[in-house]
Order: sequence, then structure tokens, then C-alpha cells
Amino acid sequence: MQSVTDLPFMRVIAKRGGPDWFVTEFFRVHPASKPDRYILRSIRENTTGRPIFAQIIGSDAEAMVKEAKLLLRENVAGIDLNLGCPSPTVCGKSAGGGLLRQPAEIDRMIGMLREAIPTRFTVKTRVGFAIESEFEKLLEIFRKHAIDGLTIHGRTVADRYQTPVRPHCVAAAVEILDCPVIANGNVVNALAGRKYLQLTGAQGLMIGRGAIRNPWIFDQLRSHFDGSATPQPRARDLLAYIEDLYAELARESKEYVEKHHIQRMKKTMLYIVQGLGDEIEQGMRRMQTEEEFFALFRNALDHDDLLPDVPPEQSKLFCGFQELL
Ligand SMILES: Cc1cc2nc3c(=O)[nH]c(=O)nc-3n(C[C@H](O)[C@H](O)[C@H](O)COP(=O)(O)O)c2cc1C
Repeated sequence: MQSVTDLPFMRVIAKRGGPDWFVTEFFRVHPASKPDRYILRSIRENTTGRPIFAQIIGSDAEAMVKEAKLLLRENVAGIDLNLGCPSPTVCGKSAGGGLLRQPAEIDRMIGMLREAIPTRFTVKTRVGFAIESEFEKLLEIFRKHAIDGLTIHGRTVADRYQTPVRPHCVAAAVEILDCPVIANGNVVNALAGRKYLQLTGAQGLMIGRGAIRNPWIFDQLRSHFDGSATPQPRARDLLAYIEDLYAELARESKEYVEKHHIQRMKKTMLYIVQGLGDEIEQGMRRMQTEEEFFALFRNALDHDDLLPDVPPEQSKLFCGFQELL
């Protein structure tokens, strides 16, 4: 996730289980672009032991091919094309989810990328731009070019992040495509992940916000499949996670400026504090210094109570997930 799931974040969640595969934040591509140096570090300095895909986003097919070729010189598991970002700025440039309005252009771009990428070439998509009936045509294009995997965020671009996901669209893709299909969206806990798999027959899950809030979610899911012990994180574990994130991000910033660092932490903390109570949520908005940061979280989390399994329904950042529980 752009500006959140960077190299320090990957390292910190890998220590708590972590996914089988990572995907970088998206590399923005335009005719004059070169791969972003900071995002490149999550490939070059990936010490998690887990493979990583490089994700690209853009509207110029020739430039996308050029960038993909540059990224293929790196130690990547493959190249992933972003057709899901709903940001009005990105969509306004006909990139990310905005491209879903132009199936003919997607067809051309995927064809060119497929030809240029001899290894894994995967796509991350939504189920349409405005309505899900657009999905059928998109699936035809993905099948025609024999992509190696499709991750589906089960919403349209118009849905942004607010609605329930649409498992039947993911199930339709599983039926039609020969490649692995990965279900994404609203996996807030292990139960939601299992239900999403059950409803769709998908081969895997991609987890974004849920993994920021609960980095143990991957091991909680694994425990269901391999019979290993299910992690049951407690408040003190969350505190250690937050302290670890703070330190790792500080270590990686070019220059540690307290005020800026607190702002950077807030981007990630927003997901983590959902459901921990009004006092923490409000305290987080107010805090400005490292001392206030640690006082807030140590006061609230230095104990052994179990953490809530799900975030509050209808919080701004998590909503519409009840259907998967
Ligand atoms: C702040 C933010 C940044 C994101 N950046 C990316 C990105 O760079 N690439 C991508 O494929 N998806 C990105 N996403 C979308 C997520 O990967 C995911 O598809 C979406 O949040 C739904 O899944 P979740 O409920 O597991 O978070 C982003 C989402 C958010 C909220």
C-alpha cells in the first residue's frame, strides 16, 4: 500500500509471520520515469526471506514495458500491473482503476507486457469501473493474454473502499481463468479470510489494511490450514509491534525529524488504533512528540488483555466486512 507498506513495514511484519509473497507499493510510470529509489529498496534490501513482486501503475503502455524491463533486472518474483487504484488523480490520468474504462487499451497494454515479461506477470484489478457487468469483458482479456495470476479487489472503482466485497465476481474469475486467482478486500481477521476462500474457491488471499492492524493474521490463517498453534496477540504484543515499527521507520529515514516522524507514524497507526477506544484514537490525533507517542501507547497497552479480533464495523477505515464473518 502506497506510503504505508514499505521496506521497514515489511521487515516488521515478517517478524510476526508475514505473507508468503510481498508486493511493492506501486511504481508510478510515465515516459520519463525511472524506478523510484525508495520503493526499489524494498526489493534490493528485502531480507524477509519471502519473494516480492514489483507493482507498476501508469497509462502509457510503451513506458510500462520499459519500466517492467528495468525492474526485471532486480530480484523480483514477477511484475504486477495495478488496475485497481481508485484515487481520482490516478484515475484522471487513465491509470490504475481509471484504465478499467478502456478495455481496448488494457488489452493492448497487457499484450505488450506479456510479450516483454518472460517470468511471472500478474494483474491486480477491481471488478469494474462503475458496474460489475464490466468484469466479464476484463476477464476475457486476462484469459486471452495468459497472465500468471489475478488478484481481485472485489469492488468496483466507484465503490472505493466502503462497500461489502463481491465474492461472486471472484468466483466467476476462478471458473473462467486458468491462472491462480487471489481474493482481496475486507479480510479483517482469519475467519473473514477463510470465508472469502470458501465462497470463491480462490487460491489465495491478499491482505492490506487487515495486516497493518493485525500482523499476526497470516499465521492465524496458516494455523487453520497446517494445524500449527494460532497466535492470540495481546495488548503487550501490539505495543511491541508499534515500538518496533517506530524504531525501524526511524532507522530508515534519511534524517530523523521528530515532528515528521510522528506524522509518518500516524499514517500507519490510523489502521492500528481502530477499535482500541476513543481515548487512544483522539490522543493519537493530538500527539506531536515522541514522548507523547510512547506515553499514549505504553499507558494503554502495557498489559496482557487479548486484542479485539475485528475492528469496529463502520469505522472510517474498515467497513462492510460483516458479510465475510
Ligand atoms: C492508503 C492505501 C494505499 C494503497 N496502495 C496500494 C498500492 O500501492 N497497490 C495496490 O495494489 N493496492 C493498494 N491499495 C489497495 C489495497 O491493496 C487493497 O486492495 C484494498 O485496501 C482492499 O484490501 P484490504 O481490505 O485487505 O485492505 C491501497 C489502499 C490504501 C487504503
